Amino acid sequence: MQYSQKVLDHFMKPHNVGEIKDADAVATEGSPACGDQVTVYLKINQETHVIEDVKFKSYGCASNIATGSMITDMAMGKTIDEALAITWRDAMEELDGLPPTKAHCSVLAADTLHEAIKNYQISHGLRKVEDFSKETIIDELKHVIYPQVGEDIVTLKMVKYVGYDDGVAIIDIEIPSFDKYRDNVVEEIREHLEKYQQIKDLQINM
Ligand code: FES
Repeated sequence: MQYSQKVLDHFMKPHNVGEIKDADAVATEGSPACGDQVTVYLKINQETHVIEDVKFKSYGCASNIATGSMITDMAMGKTIDEALAITWRDAMEELDGLPPTKAHCSVLAADTLHEAIKNYQISHGLRKVEDFSKETIIDELKHVIYPQVGEDIVTLKMVKYVGYDDGVAIIDIEIPSFDKYRDNVVEEIREHLEKYQQIKDLQINM
């Protein structure tokens, strides 16, 4: 597997590793694709909403450690809105790319950063609970990566139908029964959607 020099540098000497004891926000996310986990800690200026300190702990692979290092560098000194706009693709590009089977490692790092910021926004009354709709589900599915090619399942047109009505979410996916990533994809869809209380019944059809 070919890694860029930047990935190797950030993996060997990662920045911002550790824990913030009196953090203003924390989030831990896991990747069903591989079972790895990341925790992000944030110290945020209450008036300016600038991220004054950020640390992370990774129980993940080299790509995950490298992306955690890069994305925390990118978030440091930014406002929470600016940091929310940093995508997993931005972090991956800053690292001069990752092998396709490792794109989900970058998604995990970015999702954890975003989740910590959202937790801060909710606890400080800065984020209204959004209207839950079919679009919310589609946005979440854009974070489910098909490991073989490192693209999300919406971009790959693997999602054939999304419906939401009265607590029932129905998702039709096109993925062959012999596909070795099939279970990972389904598990990741569940992981992304089961946190929503608005979904009482999640039906994934293949
Ligand atoms: Fe698990 Fe990279 S393989 S985060």
